[in-house]
Amino acid sequence: SNEAARISDIIADCRHLEGPMLPILHRIQDEFGYIPEPAKQIIADALNLSRAEVHGVITFYHDFRARPSGRHVLKLCRAEACQSMGGEPLADKIKSLLGVDWHGTTADGAVTLEPVFCLGLCAQAPAAMLDGHLHARLDENCLDDLMAEVRA
Ligand code: FES
Repeated sequence: SNEAARISDIIADCRHLEGPMLPILHRIQDEFGYIPEPAKQIIADALNLSRAEVHGVITFYHDFRARPSGRHVLKLCRAEACQSMGGEPLADKIKSLLGVDWHGTTADGAVTLEPVFCLGLCAQAPAAMLDGHLHARLDENCLDDLMAEVRA
């Protein structure tokens, strides 16, 4: 398939690198937006590993997704400054509003919720990033705006 051919090309580009697995996975995710299931076996064959070993690496690093993301990606900061400013209850609220857990995508495909560890806005915690745009001092009020935006 086309997908398999692209994956093989990426592997060919990266396999000379020392520790080629992560560069390969990052390039596949950049290209497809996620790691397609068949990629695991293709990578395993190319690098002389088992499929389970490749799967283990993918699940160990939270950067990689198994499915395409939603139309929007909402990243909530889970690092210390944001935690101390109510980040956890806020995250719980957002999870229940969206009906998803971390790394989940809403059933309508509108939004994927991801944790992130520090967005550099610690002085204006709690912070989030929606589709690459930073949002500081999140509270109940801006939450409504944020939800309206991801539902759009
Ligand atoms: Fe959340 Fe730094 S800890 S932005």
